[in-house]
Amino acid sequence: MFMHKVTTLNQFIVERQAEIPGATGEFSRLLHHVGIAAKKVHREVNKAGLADILGRAGTINVQGENQQKLDVFADNTFMDELRASGECCGVATEENESAVAFDEDLCRRGKYAVCMDPLDGSSNIDANVPVGTIFSIYRRLSPVGERPSEEDFLQAGTAQIAAGYVIYGSSTMLVYTAGRGVNGFTLDASIGEFCLSHPLVQTPARGRIYSINEGNYANFPVGVKKYIKYCQEIDEASGRPYTSRYIGSLVADFHRNMLRGGLFLYPETSRYPEGKLRLVYECNPVAFIAEQSGGAATNGTRRVLELTPGSLHRRVPFYAGSREMAGKLMEFLEFFNHI
Ligand code: AHG
Ligand code: MN
Ligand code: MN
Repeated sequence: MFMHKVTTLNQFIVERQAEIPGATGEFSRLLHHVGIAAKKVHREVNKAGLADILGRAGTINVQGENQQKLDVFADNTFMDELRASGECCGVATEENESAVAFDEDLCRRGKYAVCMDPLDGSSNIDANVPVGTIFSIYRRLSPVGERPSEEDFLQAGTAQIAAGYVIYGSSTMLVYTAGRGVNGFTLDASIGEFCLSHPLVQTPARGRIYSINEGNYANFPVGVKKYIKYCQEIDEASGRPYTSRYIGSLVADFHRNMLRGGLFLYPETSRYPEGKLRLVYECNPVAFIAEQSGGAATNGTRRVLELTPGSLHRRVPFYAGSREMAGKLMEFLEFFNHI
């Protein structure tokens, strides 16, 4: 029988580690546990229609949003696995007001701090729409052996050691970067392993998809409105009109655009005057992936990765995807902000 060689996520991270002088395996262990948590959430998402795990948990998270049962499950699962890795001193998530410090001795000696959105797009889950997990890994700033400090979780995106997301879609994928390109792994459920399926993903420099919740059109900054009209104009030479695609799940919208070429937009609106998406655990990790795949991510005026978070749940306007599309959008924003 023809067997083709597969590289599992674990093999891949161990091989990569061997290429880095002085690497000790701690980071590999951490990622390994992220993979385990992802598989557990995958299992739960996949039986969501069968068991009593759909719907609201009856609780509200720190941002006043209804928590779905799967939000709570994913939050607990990732938290437990990161704790079990022994390499992580604490975790900041969308579901908790402040970062959670791990008090076990082993964890206190962990070098890494993790920020994450355990379940992204969860308000869509009852409709069988893809959801995701987004994560971001930093080297802690506080002394190893002590309780982590708030600053560990509030570093600029440029300090990320690694970042990625899991997409629980028609197949489940884990996509991550450690600063040397983006690699994607698809879960082969028959062997229970993430297998390298998308080595060194490069996003097209110019895309033809724009992704935005156009229901908010009346509230968009004028530069964004003009850019949308530009996307819709007929111009055969540049392939316009572009195609509009919007799922309402950042991970799924971004992932599709990264593979095909496109731009994701979530500007400020009257409901969300600072934008809706959270810098620390949504925008920064996705921005790191965007840049590492050859794309760009901006808040409209600045590179997302260079923003200083200030607080854990800070929201920012977010535009990410193909480089030339992001450049064009910035031209519109700049021009129309100055008239
Ligand atoms: P979360 O489920 O973690 O709260 O995030 C939902 C986010 C993001 O996934 C998506 O891009 C955005 O909300 C969609 O917002 P709208 O429904 O306002 O378009
Ligand atoms: Mn989210
Ligand atoms: Mn979420």
